[in-house]
Amino acid sequence: MNYSQIQFSDRHSEIDLYQLQELFNISAFWAIGRSIEDLGIAIANSNPVISVWDADKLIGFARATSDCIYRATIWDVVIHPDYRGSGLGSKLVETILSHPRIKCVERVYLMTTLQQEFYKKIGFQPNSSTTMVLYNQAKFSSLSATEIQLQETLGG
Ligand SMILES: CC(C)(COP(=O)(O)OP(=O)(O)OC[C@H]1O[C@@H](n2cnc3c(N)ncnc32)[C@H](O)[C@@H]1OP(=O)(O)O)[C@@H](O)C(=O)NCCC(=O)NCCS
Repeated sequence: MNYSQIQFSDRHSEIDLYQLQELFNISAFWAIGRSIEDLGIAIANSNPVISVWDADKLIGFARATSDCIYRATIWDVVIHPDYRGSGLGSKLVETILSHPRIKCVERVYLMTTLQQEFYKKIGFQPNSSTTMVLYNQAKFSSLSATEIQLQETLGG
């Protein structure tokens, strides 16, 4: 595959929400079925937001939230299946880590169900002792018990 035209962008405005929805549906088990409206809210409230492009095709995405001094968390890291195994995923995470809003914090967290080995190669360490979660009842009241159990099982 020719990667010479792959571009990384940190501009929120460039995100095509329909392409992002499709990328999540095929590549991100924890983010299947997210609505366009909700994706727009998540992006508006994240910084940095990094997208990866093959010409005008969205082939990678990651976002983070940060208090710019103590803690930051990375979310929704994904590379399109056709483009994996060539270093784009690690470059994507390193682009997030080198952003001014992330490199100034003491600790960077992320949650991962299946990709511990990928993140270890970048320098992350397992941290199973500190994570807790509250499932927001107002947000989840419209979900069935099966859907809630699935989200609990998959994490993300
Ligand atoms: C995880 C993901 C982003 C990795 O993207 P990628 O472009 O394939 O990763 P890279 O090519 O940069 O891999 C970097 C290194 O990690 C290794 N690696 C990647 N995925 C791995 C895995 N699941 N287990 C072990 N090693 C892995 C690669 O072999 C490579 O090693 P090397 O530097 O020794 O050659 C991609 O597989 C993906 O989008 N997966 C589905 C979504 C997902 O699970 N995202 C993470 C959510 S927390």
